Amino acid sequence: MRINILTLFPEFFDTPLKTSMMHKAQRIKAVDFKFYNLRDFGIGPRYQVDDRPYGGGAGMILRVDVVDKAIEKIKKNDPKTKIILLTPKGQTFNQDLAQNLAIKNSLTLICGHYEGFDERIRDLVDAEISIGNFVLTGGEPATLVIIDAITRLIPGVLDHESAKEESFSLKIENSLQNCKLKIENCLEYPHYTRPVDFNRKKVPKILLSGNHVEVKKWRLQQAIEETEKRKNNPPKM
Ligand code: ADE
Repeated sequence: MRINILTLFPEFFDTPLKTSMMHKAQRIKAVDFKFYNLRDFGIGPRYQVDDRPYGGGAGMILRVDVVDKAIEKIKKNDPKTKIILLTPKGQTFNQDLAQNLAIKNSLTLICGHYEGFDERIRDLVDAEISIGNFVLTGGEPATLVIIDAITRLIPGVLDHESAKEESFSLKIENSLQNCKLKIENCLEYPHYTRPVDFNRKKVPKILLSGNHVEVKKWRLQQAIEETEKRKNNPPKM
């Protein structure tokens, strides 16, 4: 998969893309990132990318003509890419959306910055995505979240079993007796490792039993309970 990133701050991505899973994904050529610096498409001797808002008000607004020029260049290199604008007004990102995006050949993620962008930029894109109901100073952290969530779904990037059993994607086709359950979008069951006893908090006995069928049943039950508990009654801060 090709992922183009249009940003004023390509250096924001330096370390994350060199780290861990994202690094491996590039090494095995599952994904290839190409950066476009919005500044390169800026206007005049100072490569201006933003301007004051018509009608007055605080802050600077990203110019539509600058973003248009950048998109034109990206599409020249990659005509079939799907263009996505990161904005708090977009469709909220979730695992289903990550799965839909992970099967595309090419995505272009546009990071907005400063106080906002010219409304007409929305006509230049195929989709708008938000990573949640809060406002970031720019689209870069949102882009990072999205590329992490997508990249790990590309076959070969994660170890097969852990990808299959992951939170939110846990699809248990349970062939156990009396249990014909198919659970989608289920949170993962709890995990434990050594020590067996930590400050008198013990690892559940079933996990030490060696009974794989019972362990599977327990995990399934825990996953269901965990999902019910956390999704319907999120813990209060
Ligand atoms: N840019 C600013 N806030 C954002 C958010 N919540 N999601 C995506 N892009 C953003």
